[in-house]
Amino acid sequence: MKPQNWVNPLRDERDKRLPRIAGPCGLVIFGVTGDLSRKKLMPAVYDLANRGLLPPGFSLVGFARRDWADQDFGQQVHDAVREHARTPFKESVWARLAEGLRFVPGSFDDDEAFARLAKTVAALDEERGTGGNHAFYLSIPPAAFPTVTQQLAEHGLAGGDQPPNVWRRVVIEKPFGHDLASARELNRVVNAVFEEESVFRIDHYLGKETVQNILALRFANQLFEPIWNANYVDHVQITMAEDIGLAGRAGYYDGIGAARDVIQNHLLQLLAFTAMEEPLSFEPSQLRAEKVKVLRATKAVGPFDQTTARGQYAGGWQGGVKVRGLLEEEGFAPDSTTETYAAVTLAVQNRRWAGVPFYLRTGKRLGRRVTEIAVIFKRAPHLPFDHTATEELGQNALVIRVQPDEGVTLRFGSKVPGSTMEVRDVTMDFGYGHAFTESSPEAYERLILDVLLGEPSLFPANEEVELSWQILDPVLEHWARSGKPEPYAPGSWGPPSADAILARSGRHWRRP
Ligand code: BG6
Repeated sequence: MKPQNWVNPLRDERDKRLPRIAGPCGLVIFGVTGDLSRKKLMPAVYDLANRGLLPPGFSLVGFARRDWADQDFGQQVHDAVREHARTPFKESVWARLAEGLRFVPGSFDDDEAFARLAKTVAALDEERGTGGNHAFYLSIPPAAFPTVTQQLAEHGLAGGDQPPNVWRRVVIEKPFGHDLASARELNRVVNAVFEEESVFRIDHYLGKETVQNILALRFANQLFEPIWNANYVDHVQITMAEDIGLAGRAGYYDGIGAARDVIQNHLLQLLAFTAMEEPLSFEPSQLRAEKVKVLRATKAVGPFDQTTARGQYAGGWQGGVKVRGLLEEEGFAPDSTTETYAAVTLAVQNRRWAGVPFYLRTGKRLGRRVTEIAVIFKRAPHLPFDHTATEELGQNALVIRVQPDEGVTLRFGSKVPGSTMEVRDVTMDFGYGHAFTESSPEAYERLILDVLLGEPSLFPANEEVELSWQILDPVLEHWARSGKPEPYAPGSWGPPSADAILARSGRHWRRP
């Protein structure tokens, strides 16, 4: 085995053709029988292996309350990979990955199970050279975090007295609490066992190529920066719409709702990337400093009964299929006030953005699945045309299409060919499909690799999570005091109160 501090003399850090490959390590997944693990985590591990980005001795340990042997777990991983992996299935890659699969049965409060886990991990270090480096992925309800982190600490798995070149990391999934107070408590519990630099909080939106590209678009180009401010921007709309409902997700979603599920994390991160100042460098600490600064300047604008909206999908027809309303979905309380649609108005209170509303909306069972950021520009101050010539001219817009149909669209006015002057909106388009031959990795591929590399740029820090709750809490408190969400038809674009938010200032939501 090569010594830990061995450096490959042929490898030059500046050579971008060399992919970053994780060093010796293993990954332990708690909650391995869950949906996330099956659909995203296990397939992402395979995709990384297939791309040659995992070390040869890489090991994956599953921990769950199932009476499985290693082979049964292997079969589960195999099925998940066959069904959900992005890259083609190769027997040779699979065979190698399968050698490092282990399963530890047990519940979170079972001391013996954690002792077995510690033994399994130590054996992997011996047999497969994982070098003591292990990441623990908590794909479990936050209520179980205290028990699991405590067990890891008690069984010597959390690090502590490891040699300095050996690492232990913990990966946690949202929701990080349900308000500021509970998030603080959760962070306290986790930080009692893992120091902050070993904690990787997943916001899978940051793993998306199109989200990372916001930084390239803004900071690698000269074109956009001069107009990226309140002098030119009228308002910003950030939309994350889904056409699916919540069947099967009551356990997680009832009582949580759209604002906590999506706005508190994904959409506020999109806002931070869109509105932040240029970081001094892409050093993780510099990037975080700018995100924290912009989140600290962000406030929810009231009065909330005019500037926010929440809805709940009703039953009806969507795309020719009869669907249930939320209240009839299995597992939801028949009088549930959980919102499946949420819209808020935010202000970024600094010189760049003063007076520019940021409208954020998200919902289930909407017209179609789409996530986009639309920066809508002010109208030209003077139009030297007859009024009739510009009737069809809207506002210029730059739309970052996060998904699907990933790309960027610029909308502006152009003369319609002919003998009269008539100006109408046209678009200029960048699509990933046309511009690049390589397909984008899945968000979880990038993020799991970054955990194993110890690269924290794409993980929200403690402070960002708490600031995001601070922004949202006043709205959530207002909603808790005031009635119920408004019903909306499946396949629509949300409740009428959402349209009213923008209509008050003569604006309207884009139809994505
Ligand atoms: C998750 C939410 O974070 O993101 C889900 O909990 C949502 O409710 C999902 O469906 C959407 O992710 P994506 O990558 O498909 O936009």
